[in-house]
Amino acid sequence: MARYDPRDRFFLQAKKDGYRARSAYKLAEIQKRFRLLRAGDRVLDLGAAPGGFCQVAAANVGPKGFVLGVDLEVIPSLPPPVVTWAADAFTPELLARLRSEGRAPYDVVLSDLAPKTSGVHQSDEARSLALAERALDLTRQVLRPGGSFAVKLFMGAGFEEYRALCRDAFGKVKAMKPEASVARHSKELYLVCQEHKLPTARSESPASR
Ligand SMILES: C[S@@+](CC[C@H](N)C(=O)[O-])C[C@H]1O[C@@H](n2cnc3c(N)ncnc32)[C@H](O)[C@@H]1O
Repeated sequence: MARYDPRDRFFLQAKKDGYRARSAYKLAEIQKRFRLLRAGDRVLDLGAAPGGFCQVAAANVGPKGFVLGVDLEVIPSLPPPVVTWAADAFTPELLARLRSEGRAPYDVVLSDLAPKTSGVHQSDEARSLALAERALDLTRQVLRPGGSFAVKLFMGAGFEEYRALCRDAFGKVKAMKPEASVARHSKELYLVCQEHKLPTARSESPASR
């Protein structure tokens, strides 16, 4: 069940509410403000272990929706409409699998991808950014036009360039720092991107073609 510091109020609340991770409250707050998830939606959740985001997404999309959680770690099974895969977001085969078995295109893509921290600040930041870039690259290929994308980022080198890429790809882009993030990760925030534009030949990255 919920991990992290036992004195943390979100940790305690997660245990009470049956959430697997305190991060569930981050998505709940994003949802409260932006209403990204709707009944019947298909959702891709990247970096989904242990499953807190999947639980919140499932509650919002309901039994007619679909939530696919993907993580390097095996995610202990969750009831329908959640399906989980153990897979590396960087695996080139992932895109084809999302399209064949994964029920792409999606209405919403979530990315809470985060590397195991090494303590070396610059390298942790660079690895986080690479994960966010991969999430955006996949999103451009599996998110329906008009769909939404919420991605975790760390304020630091590359942030403004990343936000500019999101602004090219979406009609609306807002940064937000959920309350559940504040105490532990002062530099963590989410970019909430809505109104996905159709990718054009110019906006596609060479890797995605
Ligand atoms: C902050 S945790 C996600 C918490 C999750 N959103 C929840 O609510 O339970 C970040 C996750 O990213 C995953 N991750 C990191 N690199 C990855 C990669 N290359 N492919 C897939 N998952 C990855 C980690 O295994 C970790 O479980």
